[in-house]
Amino acid sequence: MTCIGEASMPFDYARYLAAKTTVDDRALNRHVLGELRRLMPAGAPQVLEVGAGLGTMAARLMDWGAVTTGEYILLDADRQLLDCSRRWLRDWAAARGLRSELLPDGLQVGDLRVRLVHAELGRYLEATHRTPADVLIANAVLDLVDVPAVLPGLLRLLVPGGVYWFTINYDGESIFAPGHPHDDQIMRAYHRDMDERVRYGRPAGESRAGRHLFHHLRAAGAPALAAGPSDWVVSAGPDGHYPGDEAYFLRSILDTIQDALRNRQDQVDPADLAGWLAERSRQLAAGELVYIAHQLDFAGRSPG
Ligand SMILES: C[S@@+](CC[C@H](N)C(=O)[O-])C[C@H]1O[C@@H](n2cnc3c(N)ncnc32)[C@H](O)[C@@H]1O
Repeated sequence: MTCIGEASMPFDYARYLAAKTTVDDRALNRHVLGELRRLMPAGAPQVLEVGAGLGTMAARLMDWGAVTTGEYILLDADRQLLDCSRRWLRDWAAARGLRSELLPDGLQVGDLRVRLVHAELGRYLEATHRTPADVLIANAVLDLVDVPAVLPGLLRLLVPGGVYWFTINYDGESIFAPGHPHDDQIMRAYHRDMDERVRYGRPAGESRAGRHLFHHLRAAGAPALAAGPSDWVVSAGPDGHYPGDEAYFLRSILDTIQDALRNRQDQVDPADLAGWLAERSRQLAAGELVYIAHQLDFAGRSPG
C-alpha cells in the first residue's frame, strides 16, 4: 500500500506528516506541555485527537511518557491517512520493541488502545457522542477550521473540566532566510489564501488563528491556563544536511505555497512566483534555506 493521503496536496502527504515529526518535537512548547501533564487525569485516560493524521502525536506522547495507557482515538477526515496510520504506528512500535496488534477498528500499542475514527470534524460535532473524552488534542489543525464555529462543540466532547491541548496553531508569520525581494508579496498572498479557504463546504481556517485563540477560548468559557510559542525552526546542520527527512518537509512547504498561489495571478505575478520558488529550491538543495513559522500552543480545561 502506498501512503499518500490528503488528495488535494501536490506531494506525498503521509511522508510530509512523518517528516514534520522532528520539527514538531523541537517546536512544542515545554511549559504548555508541563501544564498538560499537571492537568492530566490519573489512571487510564480517554484521549481524543482531532485531525490526527498519521498518529505521530500518539507515538510522541507514548515516547515522552505522557500517555501510556487507556484509549486514544485518532479522528481524521482523510481515510487513506488513517489507513496509513496503522502501518506507521506498527513500524514505530516495532522500532522500539513495543508489542502491537492490529484490531478491527484500530490497534493495540503496548498498553494503549488506539481507535481510528474516520469523520469530518464539523459532521462529527453534529452527531451525538456518549463517551466524553478526558483529554482533547488538536495539533496543527485549529488553523484549518472555523474556530469560533467549532470550538464550543469541540469542548463539549470533553468531560466537564476535561483537559485540552491545542498545539502548533499558525500565527501569521513565516520567515524564509536569506531574504528575497518577493517575500512580503508572496506571504501576504499566501495568508490571504489561508483566510479565504473553504474545505468540506465550510470556511477552513485563518492565518492568525494562534493569537485569536486567546479570545476564542475565553469566549467559550475555557480560557487558556498556559500558552506559549511553538515556532517551527528548520535549518541545515554544519554538514549542509537537514535533520531526518526535513528537506522533504521544506519541499512540501514550498509546494504548498506554489499550489495555493498558482491561481492568484491577481496578487502575485506568475514570473515573480516562479523566480522566488526557483531561488528557494536552489537554497534548499544547497542547504542554505532557513524556515521559521510562528505558532502558539495552549492548554486548559473545558467549562466545569
Ligand atoms: C496539518 S495536518 C496535521 C496532522 C497531525 N495532527 C499532525 O500534526 O501530524 C491536518 C490534519 O487535519 C485533518 N483535517 C483537516 N480538516 C479536517 C476536518 N474538517 N475534519 C477532520 N479532519 C480534518 C487533515 O486530514 C490532516 O490529517
